Amino acid sequence: MRMPIVAGNWKMFKTPTEAIDFARALLPKIRDFAKVERVVCPPFIDIPGVAAALAGSPIKLGAQNVHWDRQGAYTGAIAAPMLQGLVEYVILGHSEVRQYLGDSDETINKKVKTVLAHGLKPIIAVGESLKQRQDGDPEAFVGGQVRAAFLDIPASALPSIVVAYEPIWAIGTGLSATADQAQTTIKGAVRDVLAHLYGSEDAQKVRIQYGGSVNPNNMRQFMEQPDIDGALVGGASLKVDDFTSLVQIAQEVKA
Ligand code: PGA
Repeated sequence: MRMPIVAGNWKMFKTPTEAIDFARALLPKIRDFAKVERVVCPPFIDIPGVAAALAGSPIKLGAQNVHWDRQGAYTGAIAAPMLQGLVEYVILGHSEVRQYLGDSDETINKKVKTVLAHGLKPIIAVGESLKQRQDGDPEAFVGGQVRAAFLDIPASALPSIVVAYEPIWAIGTGLSATADQAQTTIKGAVRDVLAHLYGSEDAQKVRIQYGGSVNPNNMRQFMEQPDIDGALVGGASLKVDDFTSLVQIAQEVKA
């Protein structure tokens, strides 16, 4: 059984003070849903404060990106050793980072290796654009992203890796994929590709999230899909009650 994982991607929202207040408000609401792994991914500058606010609690932290090098002359960047001891997860390859900050399949693969080498766990985001879906073969495109991200990653790392399937046209648009679309693409482009690379037994160890306009009204249908193990959530993770509902639904359906 894969442990469901619901992660909030706060993106570029919340000052350090706001982030601490939010974490304090969220903690008592989601503390007891022990059958779901609960993760919040604040902006870098908010991480130490949120880590202190959540210290000793079961709520885990993630970062939203990292550099592939362990140190160096990279103005504005954050390295994996800086995150050690503060976060457990790092989101990699989010479509916004691919689009605005130059992430490519190659840099994402380098980042996956760095994250794993530092004892952190990657949440690897993949997903097709609307044009790629309309042109007909989203699974080939997403499958290619998966192959590139996992290049030279050993099977022993698979239990530490989460993949988030996030169709770009569904992110922040209010337009979510249908549960069927999500399940079909996740199965065909992620689970089956991993099975091809590593064998089906190892492929079963990777947790796969759906992301893209997840909210308390559509969460249940995603969680009911056999290959969807949780959600990567943007907008709805910024509201205490909405994020709480998502965690609760994941526990109800999956546990
Ligand atoms: P959204 O964002 O839930 O606001 O669509 C999801 C994401 O970008 O991870």
